[in-house]
Amino acid sequence: MTLASDRVLAALFLFLLLPVASLAADPAPERARELVRMVRQDCGSCHGLTLNGGLGPPLLPDTLRDKPAESLRYTVLLGRPGTPMPPWNAFMTEAEADWIVRQLMAGFPEETR
Ligand code: HEC
Repeated sequence: MTLASDRVLAALFLFLLLPVASLAADPAPERARELVRMVRQDCGSCHGLTLNGGLGPPLLPDTLRDKPAESLRYTVLLGRPGTPMPPWNAFMTEAEADWIVRQLMAGFPEETR
């Protein structure tokens, strides 16, 4: 194997590791407050102001428990084509979507100011 292809492999390996590492980080407190507000206001307009369902299904720990967090994260980021669930990847990173899903599964925090 040549040195160049070793480098390509090493770069690819790092690239594949990166999303795993970046998912682990929680947002800074200020950004967390913004995300909580976004979920309560924007997501709440479809999923109910208490997230117990409306046009969209409930986003409560009981209803999400048996669903894989990863697929919920992709639903948030990419939406569900053919349904009213829109994609949110223009408004948040993958790590932030992961954080939101973890909060939803644990019981979503109230807005603070
Ligand atoms: C315009 C309405 C609308 C908005 C706004 C909206 N959703 Fe949805 N969402 C839906 C609908 C409808 C579904 C169900 C799609 C289907 O039929 O599979 C859904 C599905 C979901 C699911 C999958 C639930 C499950 O049980 O599988 C998650 C998670 C979710 N939304 C999170 C969010 C989050 C987080 C936001 C805000 C960042 C948001 N949604 C904003 C309409 C909306």
